[in-house]
Amino acid sequence: MSSDGDGSMGYVKWYGHAAFEIKVDDKVVLIDPWIKNPKSPLKYINELPKIDLIIVTHDHNDHLGETVEIAKKFNSSVVTTFELANEMRGQGIDSIGANIGGPIKAKDLTIILTPAVHSSTAGSPTGVIIRGSEASIYHAGDTGVFATMELIGKMYSIDIALLPIGGHFTMGPYEAAWATKMINPKVVIPMHYGTFPVISGSPEEFEKYLKTLGVSTRLVVLKPGEKYEF
Ligand code: NI
Ligand code: MN
Repeated sequence: MSSDGDGSMGYVKWYGHAAFEIKVDDKVVLIDPWIKNPKSPLKYINELPKIDLIIVTHDHNDHLGETVEIAKKFNSSVVTTFELANEMRGQGIDSIGANIGGPIKAKDLTIILTPAVHSSTAGSPTGVIIRGSEASIYHAGDTGVFATMELIGKMYSIDIALLPIGGHFTMGPYEAAWATKMINPKVVIPMHYGTFPVISGSPEEFEKYLKTLGVSTRLVVLKPGEKYEF
């Protein structure tokens, strides 16, 4: 990870739940933009900076969020699975249909959808890797833990992993600690917890399991609205 020296640092900003704004190589990408979730500091879409690209991991409402409104406002392209991209095109959105494991180029970034062990209505659920020259970032989407995470870590040398820890619908803190051990990123940022009572996994439990498993990855816990700069 490195900054480009002209003062425009890359960052990962959390809006609560699975929603992140990521700036890498001077492109601003939103992932799973449910920006009106109960923990989000945003009330209005026009509080966002200009969004170059939106990535949607799957079509559950807590991930699709305000994708259509945001894409229309900024004329941003949406990258998602082929089936969901087709649905979005029907709503007048410039969408790029991709599929799991196939790297695509969008806004000079390499985007790779990953498997996610979860469910969805249109297309398969996914995670996503964003590879820029400044950083390689993995957002796991909604998923349970799976052994291929180790291969993902080895193949794509992940700098920052964004992992769900809430439990119930996704990995809890214990599973996410195993995921971190396999992915072996430099930094891990927990997400998808605390939005509703049932997703009760906490960063404190996650930290405990990281220690128990001897994981050396740096844990960075963000509050909604905070950013981690790189
Ligand atoms: Ni889901
Ligand atoms: Mn979810």
